[in-house]
Amino acid sequence: MLLAISDLHVSHAANRLLVESLRPTTPNDWLLLAGDIAEQESDFTWVISTLSQRFAQVVWTPGNHELWCTPKDPLKLPGVLRYEHLVNICRKYNVLTPEDEFCRYHMGDGSAVTIAPVFTLYDYSFRNTFDYTADQAIERARRCGVISSDEFFLKTYPHKSIIDWCRERIQYTEKRLNIIPDDEDIILMSHFPIIRKPLESLRNTEFSIWCGSEKTHQWASRKGVRMVVYGHLHIPNIEYIQNIIHIEVSLGYPRDWQEHRKCSYLVELDGLLEHANEYR
Ligand SMILES: [Fe+2]
Ligand SMILES: [Fe+2]
Repeated sequence: MLLAISDLHVSHAANRLLVESLRPTTPNDWLLLAGDIAEQESDFTWVISTLSQRFAQVVWTPGNHELWCTPKDPLKLPGVLRYEHLVNICRKYNVLTPEDEFCRYHMGDGSAVTIAPVFTLYDYSFRNTFDYTADQAIERARRCGVISSDEFFLKTYPHKSIIDWCRERIQYTEKRLNIIPDDEDIILMSHFPIIRKPLESLRNTEFSIWCGSEKTHQWASRKGVRMVVYGHLHIPNIEYIQNIIHIEVSLGYPRDWQEHRKCSYLVELDGLLEHANEYR
């Protein structure tokens, strides 16, 4: 089975307990981890080592929280250095990242799908209007009482800004997506939604500026893309948009998931893909 979850946020004790209980249903199950596992390196390593021992293959892409550099954090690595450090931890446990070759997952019906983890951040372009600049959009959100903690903790070294880092990541990702053969089915796996539509569910749409980039929009209509798996909003959801399944697989903070208790928080993707195949 191909399973997915994001936003484990294991600094919360209840979430850590829940992660301890996550188990595959068969020895062949794969797990996609779509970011926001933890802020601290020790928590991150615990999740990666624990889950990689249980699942046949784990694939990870970072969220914004893994990249936080808080004043009390013993790991003094900012921006790209921090990301590379986390990639190296994943490699120790054979967990695939956006820096590795895309892998193919074989489904029960004999078909295969390419799993493409992407890491693109955001560039404030999901703002309500381009009548104002990114800085003005942040200021406007702040005045509405909304500010992402990324503004304090997410360091972008050596890039001057998150806009620059996001641009570089999008160029890198586009090159990688372009070499996937046209006849391969693809699951894009990103922490951030790649289109605007899911942002309509936000309680305060001013938060949209911290949720992705307009420049990833065309990836949803790229040949072969069947599904986009994402997190970040903490609003689990599934939508079919132009024959593509956009599915948010986030767990979220205890207040997000404890109200809607389920037997499993792992989202099964095979069934959704096979069901969609029937209507192609
Ligand atoms: Fe999150
Ligand atoms: Fe996030």
